[in-house]
Amino acid sequence: MTTKNNTIEKIALPTVKNIIVVASGKGGVGKSTVSAGLALALARDGRKVGLMDADIYGASIPLLTGTEGFKPLMLQVGETPRMTPAEKWGIKIQSIAYFIDEKAAMWRGPMASNTLMQLVEQTAWGELDYLVIDLPPGTGDIQLSLFQRLDVTGALVVTSPQSISVSDAAKAAELIVHEQFKIPILGVVENMSWFTPAAHPAEKYFIFGKGGGQRLATRYNVPLLVQIPVVMESANENTDHYINVGHECIASYFSKLAELITN
Ligand SMILES: Nc1ncnc2c1ncn2[C@@H]1O[C@H](COP(=O)(O)OP(=O)(O)O)[C@@H](O)[C@H]1O
Ligand SMILES: [Mg+2]
Repeated sequence: MTTKNNTIEKIALPTVKNIIVVASGKGGVGKSTVSAGLALALARDGRKVGLMDADIYGASIPLLTGTEGFKPLMLQVGETPRMTPAEKWGIKIQSIAYFIDEKAAMWRGPMASNTLMQLVEQTAWGELDYLVIDLPPGTGDIQLSLFQRLDVTGALVVTSPQSISVSDAAKAAELIVHEQFKIPILGVVENMSWFTPAAHPAEKYFIFGKGGGQRLATRYNVPLLVQIPVVMESANENTDHYINVGHECIASYFSKLAELITN
């Protein structure tokens, strides 16, 4: 693990009370879904919420929230340029994808993380109770920069129940708790825990196995905050790529998560 520099300058976000990062080992486990679902639940609960898409190679927050056409405005606040975030569901949303038409795939390492850090710093967030950051999967430059330069309040680790997902998630967790950062893990979110067919509402089919989230939680001595089932009746009006995180069949799981992390 390369965690060299201890003297890197911190980014101060004086109007942001709490920064929650959402991490996972692999893509596809539902990290963006959980980030957006949590942000929405917090906003429905009356909190001021921002959602930052930090997964620049797999930016899905714009599509998931139906804000993909948004073009940020540049404001000049005193000396500092500020970028306006998109607004949806009462949430302030920012993504590098709003600024570029092509994929960010050509950006590498330091350039990508510097650009992202600049965007976090220069977004006109206003007063926020929570800034939820959807991290890229794994343990790369983006995570290192964010953990070094932001005062992260706590992390959520998302996994599916499979062993492979759990061991990848554990690698992400290792970086979070690394002595250089010592970020508290607020808990584990197990996604795609089971499936209940509409015709058999009393049944739970554990299609991806069982117990992974609890094993991860036990290993880091943190709570398994919520288990979220695979849902099917939750069409997203913006896209067929992502489920609708505000749909009644899944929103209650995000409300529970929001309640647990705010208490
Ligand atoms: N609980 C769930 N039930 C049904 N589909 C889900 C669930 N969680 C995530 N998905 C879907 O799985 C895919 C991957 O989820 P996503 O949040 O993009 O994962 P990640 O950000 O970890 O790559 C998306 O199409 C998403 O809509
Ligand atoms: Mg994602």
